[in-house]
Amino acid sequence: MTEPVIAQKSPYAVEVKAGRSYWWCACGKSAKQPFCDGSHKGSAFAPVEYKATADRTVFFCGCKRSKKAPLCDGSHNSL
Ligand code: FES
Ligand code: FES
Repeated sequence: MTEPVIAQKSPYAVEVKAGRSYWWCACGKSAKQPFCDGSHKGSAFAPVEYKATADRTVFFCGCKRSKKAPLCDGSHNSL
């Protein structure tokens, strides 16, 4: 299994809007982090949907190693 690229070793804080869907980049190759820009094509990775249920700040995983993806779970601290 290929490892995802580490986009950055910290989360991305994003203001999300209730009712909107966001597509988190799982492969780490997107130029539009933390979201998918299609760069995963041809790889084993696919983006992960996050559906916002409220207007709030969400911390999306930047290291691509969270066990609670697409959100940061602190795993970046042990990289
Ligand atoms: Fe990374 Fe699409 S570019 S999952
Ligand atoms: Fe990936 Fe925190 S940035 S677990």
